[in-house]
Amino acid sequence: MTTTPVKVAVTGAAGQIGYSLLFRLAAGDLLGPDTPIELRLLEITPALKALEGVVMELDDCAFPTLAGVQIGDDPTTVFDGVNLALLVGARPRGPGMERGDLLEANGGIFAPQGKALSEVAADDVKVVVTGNPANTNALIALSNAGDIPARQFSALTRLDHNRAIAQLAARLQVPVTEVKHMTIWGNHSATQYPDLFHAEVSGRNAYEAVGDHDWVENTFIPTVAKRGAAIIEARGASSAASAASATIDHARTWLQGTAEGDWVSMAVPSDGSYGVPEGIVSSFPVTVTDGEWSIVQGLEIDDFSRARIDASVEELQGERDAVQELGLLG
Ligand code: NAD
Ligand code: LMR
Repeated sequence: MTTTPVKVAVTGAAGQIGYSLLFRLAAGDLLGPDTPIELRLLEITPALKALEGVVMELDDCAFPTLAGVQIGDDPTTVFDGVNLALLVGARPRGPGMERGDLLEANGGIFAPQGKALSEVAADDVKVVVTGNPANTNALIALSNAGDIPARQFSALTRLDHNRAIAQLAARLQVPVTEVKHMTIWGNHSATQYPDLFHAEVSGRNAYEAVGDHDWVENTFIPTVAKRGAAIIEARGASSAASAASATIDHARTWLQGTAEGDWVSMAVPSDGSYGVPEGIVSSFPVTVTDGEWSIVQGLEIDDFSRARIDASVEELQGERDAVQELGLLG
């Protein structure tokens, strides 16, 4: 085992995603069995006692890869020297709400955290925002993060990506490992666009393999886009274990790279690719090499896809305008 632990911050660590995420991180699911991890756990003051209980449980697992755990309610202490920050802590929506309804309640969390990261995190820190509305919270964090380059911030659409793979694989009755080149475009919201035109199943174009436009438009796309609401309806609480798993998938891909011949979906600061304007954090197909993501270029976008990407981008621009009005952009 290498000796220097990787310092990983998790916010909202006493919450329901935290309860799944921390144990998987400590068990080596992100960094592997040979790299020790030091957990830095941020909570609000009233949740620190509950977090102490979670830390007791982490201790009780005697994970060989867990090199240390620090907890606290001050981001400038907890984020000191961190290499990776998983920003999960934020209020989840309840039944009947859209994620955008959380902008005002949660946006205020991400400006001070972006500022604290710029003051004390490692220079090469990678920041993943899971807390909703994730894309715009990432925009708030990066705009308040001073010298940290914007490309070191991203938001989670990997859960949507995984959901899309699972739905497609189930429809075609193939293992999920047969699905490649899945893309989620836009916002982690009901306007997101899961794209089958560029996806492949066992080497074949996924849209053609399905061969049923009505299913794509009226079943596949809404099922993926509204899966979060369906889980809230069924469970009485928002997705947690799958969100933790996708957060690990996202961070692992960012640290270790994409599989040869495949890509993943990540919400990243737009560079204008595919007509998505700069100044928002939007989901794209990306490859990752040596810890750096690149948006996959050169995909043909037909009118059907264009309209859906544009609708989600328009929503992101509206969210950006709303948080600007709230004074949350640095
Ligand atoms: P939860 O309510 O169980 O836990 C959230 C935790 O965050 C709480 O313990 C709370 O005390 C803490 N918190 C609040 N403000 C904080 C702050 N300023 N600093 C640190 N911690 C703070 O919620 P959850 O189910 O764990 O979900 C967390 C967030 O993740 C929600 O916004 C939810 O909507 C979102 N989410 C996103 C995805 C995605 O795919 N992007 C998936 C699932 C859930
Ligand atoms: C999800 O997609 O499951 C989360 O974003 C939770 C939600 O509010 O839908």
